[in-house]
Amino acid sequence: MSDPIKQASRRRTFAIISHPDAGKTTLTEKFLLYGGALGKEAGTVKAREGRRSATSDWMDMEQQRGISITSTALQFEYRDCVINLLDTPGHRDFSEDTYRVLAAADAAIMVLDAAKGIEAQTLKLFEVCREREIPFLTFINKWDRPGKSALELLDELEERLIVEPTPVTWPVGIPGEFKGVIHQDNDIYTRFERTARGSTIAPETQVDYATAEADEGEDWTNALEEASLLKELGRVVNKESFMRGESTPVFFGSALTNFGVRFLLDGVVDLVPSPSPRVLDSGDTLPLDDPFSGLVFKVQAGMDKAHRDRIAFMRVCSGRFERGLTAIAERTQKQFSTKYAQTMFGQDRDTADEAYPGDVIGLVNANDLRVGDAVYTKKPISFPPLPAFAPEHFMRARVTDTSKFKQFRKGLAQLDEEGAIQVLRDRDLGDQAPILAAVGPMQFEVATHRLQNEFGAPIELTNTSYTIARKTNTESSDALRTMQGVDVLERSEGTLLALFESKYWMDRVIGDHPELMLERMIAEGGLG
Ligand code: G4P
Repeated sequence: MSDPIKQASRRRTFAIISHPDAGKTTLTEKFLLYGGALGKEAGTVKAREGRRSATSDWMDMEQQRGISITSTALQFEYRDCVINLLDTPGHRDFSEDTYRVLAAADAAIMVLDAAKGIEAQTLKLFEVCREREIPFLTFINKWDRPGKSALELLDELEERLIVEPTPVTWPVGIPGEFKGVIHQDNDIYTRFERTARGSTIAPETQVDYATAEADEGEDWTNALEEASLLKELGRVVNKESFMRGESTPVFFGSALTNFGVRFLLDGVVDLVPSPSPRVLDSGDTLPLDDPFSGLVFKVQAGMDKAHRDRIAFMRVCSGRFERGLTAIAERTQKQFSTKYAQTMFGQDRDTADEAYPGDVIGLVNANDLRVGDAVYTKKPISFPPLPAFAPEHFMRARVTDTSKFKQFRKGLAQLDEEGAIQVLRDRDLGDQAPILAAVGPMQFEVATHRLQNEFGAPIELTNTSYTIARKTNTESSDALRTMQGVDVLERSEGTLLALFESKYWMDRVIGDHPELMLERMIAEGGLG
């Protein structure tokens, strides 16, 4: 079956977003367990490689900090579907990266810790989701230990995210006393059983109501009452409002014990939309069965220490991708070979022989590709540009060992291309003392670490007085450069940014000089 439309209809491509520690990594691993991609036991990948906490975590810094900074794509089959799971960084400082990953996803799963509910970073990541108008499912995790009540969590979703929560499953047993769930579609009560360390699939039994009442007592009667009440209130899954991001199907579970993981995965198959024709920059849509094309949403170097290679992650948007085909990079119009295309499985790579809309492939050493680029074979296309986020933190970078200046330049260029950090240069100083601009301060740590370890260029960062940036143009920049408390710097692709010491000062300049271009960028102070 090589028909791209049929193949696309089997694909479910989504990302998981969560506050660090809510359980994204654990859930990812359990998805692989239920998808049969880990053999019969979760943790086998860890055991085999002996050094990874989970399949999708692979960088040193992630290991040390226990957070996921980089993104990976995992593919496995479940039911009749091909599931493409895109990993996103958990920390808000990397929300720009999350935004780019969401450009390649058709939906998201938001994971919440039942004891914590909506946390600051969940909110920011959720705003990113809303910005991209992407539908999302909600998984309330860690029901195996004490937490907030289920109704309280629904209220929180409704009040803080302004989204209607529509439970698909409803928990039997308070948090910490998790017995099973009632499925709101068919009213069936499924009881789960624990397994040793949650490393194998949790056995499930369908229990009739009389037995449930006898065995679970009040836990059962309360759950049944709440589940029926929610239905009476019309809190049931509505596909249309879900697709518009106005409601979110909610699942309860525990990734640790595997309770509820299968229902969530079923939810992915039943609710996540399969890939649909993408909108092009021209406003036209790209039919799924057009000749092969793809969108580059992530560029990452240094994934494999032994090879120091650079991988461009591409989502297939139309047609059938076949390894070895010659593709064209839209921006440079240069042809390149796809001999080294790979599907990703954490650090393990498999050669990708073919792929269809919704799939993600890594193109190794396709050096011409940048984030946002279109790749095609026949019909030239381009996608709407991915907007750069407004940086809010600005540090000046200097190489501490001047003999390493070449390495420093190379490293900066790489980090800039990946979008790991924005590199801003003064037109007169160039790379002498560029300013690194970030959405969140942790990006500086990553940049410093990578410049030192990957490129051998130790750097020193010093504070600057800038706090806010706006996009400007050549006409406005001469006037802005003469003003105090303002500087105009350039990004490598030519965008000019005006940096201000304070918002107050910026507002004043805008008020006094309405003729100057000072355009807001996405997420300027607005998210989170
Ligand atoms: P993240 O990727 O979102 O950052 O979270 P991760 O899966 O790494 O989980 C964070 C911690 O929460 C881990 O504990 C993990 O075991 C635990 N956890 C995940 N899901 C559940 C759950 O359903 N119930 C309970 N009780 N705990 C859960 P840790 O102590 O930091 O690490 P570990 O030593 O257990 O691996």
